[in-house]
Amino acid sequence: MTGLLIRDLAEVATHHGGGAPLRGNALRELEVTERAYILVGDDGAIASVGSMRDLPPIGPDVAEIDGTSLSAIPGLVDCHTHPAFAGDRVHEFALRAGAATYEELLAAGGGILSTMRATRAAGPEALREMVARHRNAMLARGTTTFEGKSGYGLDCATELAQLDAVAAAGGVPTWLGAHAVPPEHPDAAAYVDWAIAEVLPAAAEAAVAADVFVERGAFGVEPARRYLEACAGAGLAVRLHGDQLTEMGAVPLALELGARSVDHLESTGPDGVAALGGSSVAAVLLPVAALYLDRPMPPARALVDAGAIVALATDFNPGSAFCESLPVVATLACTQLGLSPEETLAGMTVNAAHVLGLGDRGRLEPGLRADIVLLDAPDWRHLAYHLAGDVVHTVVREGRIVVSPA
Ligand code: NIG
Ligand code: FE
Repeated sequence: MTGLLIRDLAEVATHHGGGAPLRGNALRELEVTERAYILVGDDGAIASVGSMRDLPPIGPDVAEIDGTSLSAIPGLVDCHTHPAFAGDRVHEFALRAGAATYEELLAAGGGILSTMRATRAAGPEALREMVARHRNAMLARGTTTFEGKSGYGLDCATELAQLDAVAAAGGVPTWLGAHAVPPEHPDAAAYVDWAIAEVLPAAAEAAVAADVFVERGAFGVEPARRYLEACAGAGLAVRLHGDQLTEMGAVPLALELGARSVDHLESTGPDGVAALGGSSVAAVLLPVAALYLDRPMPPARALVDAGAIVALATDFNPGSAFCESLPVVATLACTQLGLSPEETLAGMTVNAAHVLGLGDRGRLEPGLRADIVLLDAPDWRHLAYHLAGDVVHTVVREGRIVVSPA
């Protein structure tokens, strides 16, 4: 591999902060360098970033991209997706466009369980193909790192096939072993006991984190605690889907367990906001899911002002957020969550990488992975400004050009 020089960029925008997650005012501290370059070494890491005035002498075997009129940001990190599924839920989408709610469809055996049936029937090869397809859609929208959850198998073979499909596509696998209670188990407690005994030993090898859906009709706090404690004991980081529809104790549980994150938070009240503000549990906000299910938006502004580690993700899945686009999330963050473009970018770069335990990306700094998005605009804020626009021009992942303009 040769090196790569991206020259004459209109601007380069990046947070810093030494790898620690960003909170409060630091979320807004973005460095923007005008008329800039990024030099990538032949090891796929960033060699230097700076003003064109300071461009060092470049060897003959370095490839070049002309960045005139373009801006550069770190490769985006989507820290919460559910890409390993078969079938679709367009029928439910249409029902919800009438009057049905997400909870009613789940209680009637639809929702997650309907995707479970299709996913169990698909087989491992088909799952690999589907995750790769969604990964490519994410990449085209600037996502250079994605997390992908299981949770649509809920039997041993299919859960492991989902984790395998995510890893095969280059994603970071999370075992969402407690997503819904499948019909062959009498209740949540019995299912969790079974999953800990039968799936956890292999899932702990295949995944880096575990996740649980704490919700009425899914898992209450007691089975969630038992599941997550067992997962933590097996070496997995723990995460929770919490306060999506009902505030029923997910945030206190996340704090008690020292979770990596609690995600959703559409129903979180002031006590939960204050608790997260002072904690090391990241708040992962998923505004597409709120939009899609016509739910209240999460209290993003209050969380940032309380000092929480806020990250943003798509929640890409067939039921509540059929959208692979972090740029769309960025627009929602600025228009619906009350976040500034700078806070928004931190939430889908530095802080999202932190949620995944990845300190080698999310910022444009020497020595970090050369994951870079070039935007087709001289001002990087077009990322959020251009609603569902073709704003991504070129994507570089580990120093290689993986998306070029058509
Ligand atoms: O994060 N809420 C639980 N899990 C997913 C939705 C899964 C589905 O509806 O298939 C979510 O929104
Ligand atoms: Fe989710």
